[in-house]
Amino acid sequence: MRKPVLFVVLAVLAVGFAHASSAQTAYPNRTITVIVPFAAGGPTDVVARLLGEHMSHTLGQQLVVENVGGAGGTTGMTRVAQAAPDGYTIGVGNMGTQSAAPALYPNLKYDPAKSFAQIGICNYTPQAIVAKKTTEAKDLKEFLAYLKANSEKLSYGHAGVGSISHVSGTLFNSMFGLKPALVAYRGTNPALNDLVGGQIDYMVDQSLNVIPQIKGGTIKVYAVAAPARLESLPDVPTTKEAGVDFIFSAWNAMVAPKDTPKEIVDKLAAALSKALDDPNVTKRYVDLGSTAPPAAERGPAGLQKLVESEMARITPVLKAAMAAEPAKK
Ligand code: MLT
Repeated sequence: MRKPVLFVVLAVLAVGFAHASSAQTAYPNRTITVIVPFAAGGPTDVVARLLGEHMSHTLGQQLVVENVGGAGGTTGMTRVAQAAPDGYTIGVGNMGTQSAAPALYPNLKYDPAKSFAQIGICNYTPQAIVAKKTTEAKDLKEFLAYLKANSEKLSYGHAGVGSISHVSGTLFNSMFGLKPALVAYRGTNPALNDLVGGQIDYMVDQSLNVIPQIKGGTIKVYAVAAPARLESLPDVPTTKEAGVDFIFSAWNAMVAPKDTPKEIVDKLAAALSKALDDPNVTKRYVDLGSTAPPAAERGPAGLQKLVESEMARITPVLKAAMAAEPAKK
């Protein structure tokens, strides 16, 4: 009679131990590093910190941002692609690093469609056409006339070759035959600081980055490259209203290294989606001209589809623009 009792006791203990040890190893049980491949304070950084803070509460562990700038964001995203696939190093890239970069870096060490476990789209944000405060042009048509007459004397700031601001500027400049000096920074926050200081002349940059400066009157805005005006900039015309056929939407994406276990990716994707539904996040997005992806576009499948379609769309356009208007530096 004693044997079965002992067996039951041991079995109960074994189950208890297994439970305790799986609880100890349950993901996440330590800090998660979020690599942002651009300078602090810029659009990618702002989005990563906003969502990361909410996800920290959901996941019960801190998401800590590490800024790894350089080479248009490809240095940081290479770090993410090469990290251990354990869910403790993830990254927030953008339309530049996750779709345009392969067209511009022949030796890129990652493939945006194959080297990552996609977690989800973070947001969509239109670009705005902005200039230093002392620019005299009253509207976009006057500004374009000024750019055309002076482009070789002017400078355009961007976040490195392959970044969104570089891609949008390349397409904008090639559309109007402009050949400014291109000035690269480690992100558009430092570029914007120089625009405010008047060291560079203009940028095509995310509303998310430039709205606070537009509202503060420290830079000029000529148009938002979106199909409709932004709620937070009701007086600023769209490019179409200003007479120009130039629409450009940026996006951010959260990714992990490929081979990260599906349960971990799903947990991160659910936490990301929960953050996107938070009213404080929605308000911040509206204030900065950004929008969350609709439910149908969220999660790994939605991001994989976006990466593939954007790579297919942007690669030929970008190559043609680069061939037509070689950058001066
Ligand atoms: C870009 O142009 O790719 C971004 O604005 C970079 C950044 O987040 O600073």
